[in-house]
Amino acid sequence: MVSRVIPVDTFDLVIFGGTGDLARRKILPGLFRRFLSGQMPEGSRIIGAARSEMDSDGYREMIADAVAEFGGEESKDKKGLQAFLACLDYVAIDAKGEGGWAELAALVRHDVVQAFYFSVAPSLFGDLAERLHSNKIATSDSRIVVEKPFGRDLESARALNATLAAHFDESQIYRIDHYLGKETVQNLMAVRFGNVLFEPLWNNHYVDHIQITVAETVGVGGRGAYYDKSGAMRDMVQNHLMQLLCLIAMEPPSQFGADSVRDEKLKVIRALQPIDHHHIVRGQYDAGRDGQGYRADVENPRSFTESFIAMRCHIANWRWAGVPFYLRTGKRMKARSSEIAVVFKDLGHSIFEEDEARHRNILSIRLQPNEGMDLQVTIKEPGPGGMRLIDVPLDMTFAEALGADDHEVTDAYERLIMDVIRGNQTLFMRGDEVEAAWAWTDPLINAWEARNDVPKLYDAGSAGPEDAMMLLHRDGRRWREIKG
Ligand code: BG6
Repeated sequence: MVSRVIPVDTFDLVIFGGTGDLARRKILPGLFRRFLSGQMPEGSRIIGAARSEMDSDGYREMIADAVAEFGGEESKDKKGLQAFLACLDYVAIDAKGEGGWAELAALVRHDVVQAFYFSVAPSLFGDLAERLHSNKIATSDSRIVVEKPFGRDLESARALNATLAAHFDESQIYRIDHYLGKETVQNLMAVRFGNVLFEPLWNNHYVDHIQITVAETVGVGGRGAYYDKSGAMRDMVQNHLMQLLCLIAMEPPSQFGADSVRDEKLKVIRALQPIDHHHIVRGQYDAGRDGQGYRADVENPRSFTESFIAMRCHIANWRWAGVPFYLRTGKRMKARSSEIAVVFKDLGHSIFEEDEARHRNILSIRLQPNEGMDLQVTIKEPGPGGMRLIDVPLDMTFAEALGADDHEVTDAYERLIMDVIRGNQTLFMRGDEVEAAWAWTDPLINAWEARNDVPKLYDAGSAGPEDAMMLLHRDGRRWREIKG
């Protein structure tokens, strides 16, 4: 099935940090794919801005290499690549001084959509915002895009919000959480609010519990310095997992609009109960069969930072009272697998006396790999021999169901950048949402820091520490298997 491409308005996109890792790995290869699909209108420009002295031709060469390395199959389209590179410019800029700003002002047009991507350290946000205004580059219609980490606690997030608010209105600020750009995450909303089947069951009368797992096989190699100061809670839970939790748990918004959706998500975060430390398991990977342990990876032999976390959360509202939400995420786990599983309650009474097994309906929403959904249902085992029941999955792997090949599944960054150009903030985090998320995680982090909590070791390539298994066993439940 061919996806429909709706071109956006002509734009100038300035990428501060345009030579950085994110720009080369994700932003520019993603824009190239949008260009090839016909979504990027003629006349649009992408302007890389960074410290390195280089001219636009040098930048085009750098991006050609990046697209070849990270652009997938599409990068083989040489003619397309040349046409895309012709849309690029570069300005060497001094974020804290005046160098390059006059050149940038001369390049950025005021009669097209203007977006400024701050792919730089948050400590530079204020300088960039100020200079965009003092050099009369930004207007009241400009959009700015900022990346995580958005602060490392409530206080720093508030300070960042205040810095941005001094120069831009909230309606101009696009805080990226790339999980919100993933195809299946949006499908979660389509499934919940586009079908009559699920919503009546989506509450504590029918749902036993919900599991959210984001397991990665990669370690922290290469990002050790950043990661060791963050840990899984700040790096993954405070943003990505909480966003997934919000989408699963929120009330139906009155419309699919930015503020309606974000108002409902905010209510979920604010309704999260504080967690007792017995309901949190922190882990750190030890050397597995292949590779070294976490402490060697981050070059800190005394590190107490967690590379794994599992927790049991409760949402204090009528819909979810009494329903545990189990969250877990970790690095160097046995498989790369992200899934949300809604586990429904057992039947109140079974009429099938011959069958004593426990049968449950489970709706599993797979984010990666093999994006899709399946619903475990109970049917009669075919053949003679009475009413024996078996559980089978009603499988809807998107690639199979929709006949899409891999290339048609748009990368999260592509989708999100196009939403910035369209002026659609629905899939971006609002300032109050980010602050509320930190307000919930801060006391948990402070508490384990205060008692020098030592994370439990787990073997690289495993499903995490034993204690994480016990977190569910104690409740008479089991984690779903992590499989790629
Ligand atoms: C990032 C985290 O935000 O998300 C990384 O900083 C993590 O540590 C990554 O590896 C996971 O993203 P994805 O899309 O590969 O699941």
